[in-house]
Amino acid sequence: MTAPRSILIIGASRGLGLGLASEFVAQGWAVTATVRSAAQQAPLLALPGVRVEQLEMTDAASLEQLAQRLSGQQFDVIFVNAGVAGPSHHSTAQANAEEMGQLFLTNAVAPLRVAERLLANLASGHGLIVLMSSILGSIEAGAGLGMPLYGASKAALNHLAQCFVRTQDNPGLGVLLMHPGWVRTDMGGADAPLDIASSCKGMVAQVSAAVGQAGLRYQDYEGNPLPW
Ligand SMILES: NC(=O)c1ccc[n+]([C@@H]2O[C@H](COP(=O)([O-])OP(=O)(O)OC[C@H]3O[C@@H](n4cnc5c(N)ncnc54)[C@H](OP(=O)(O)O)[C@@H]3O)[C@@H](O)[C@H]2O)c1
Repeated sequence: MTAPRSILIIGASRGLGLGLASEFVAQGWAVTATVRSAAQQAPLLALPGVRVEQLEMTDAASLEQLAQRLSGQQFDVIFVNAGVAGPSHHSTAQANAEEMGQLFLTNAVAPLRVAERLLANLASGHGLIVLMSSILGSIEAGAGLGMPLYGASKAALNHLAQCFVRTQDNPGLGVLLMHPGWVRTDMGGADAPLDIASSCKGMVAQVSAAVGQAGLRYQDYEGNPLPW
């Protein structure tokens, strides 16, 4: 019998991260998932076989501690899902340094820092890094769809992912920038057309198909390529 595929999901306390953990478990994957505090573990521990770790993604010391705990472990996929919507005013005029620092650190800088620090934990030859992006981060298609500051942070994520791939001397490495659709979560809101389970079923199918495919792609949960 071959070993099940393994995945590390960053940011799985609720919403899409929790939905992804549930669907990967249903598909027979070995799932390790992170939350920010131990008090958030219960829904993940209710899923059979899930291992829970802790990470505050914007805290370099927290990432270092996770890297130490995961030392020597290999994952077929590392999926950085965690993200924030940013200030509810969505206004460049009102935005202050603290709000923008938090938004861009969380959505753009920290995911790449996680990818860089945990690269040694990615299975060599076929490992895949998935970064949760958004159609709102598309320079060509995202403008006019709303949430411009958030969209800019995801555009920055997309750019940093391109920079990351260029610096890697690993022809087998796959990097997938994923748009989950507009989904009914705390972030997506009640008016979103998609439920968590449908989005996550689609994403899990796409991730499963992408394992072993080298190179960088930006696509949605149904596999449609998105314009940069
Ligand atoms: N929902 C949509 O329609 C939609 C569309 C496009 C893209 N996305 C992206 O999909 C991802 C998940 O969104 P969602 O809708 O599921 O949002 P959500 O319900 O607000 O959940 C966000 C998740 O990210 C975690 N997180 C936030 N900041 C973190 C940090 N600094 N360190 C560790 N974990 C952190 C949260 O943990 P806590 O519980 O501790 O806060 C939570 O688990 C995000 O990257 C989002 O930008 C969502």
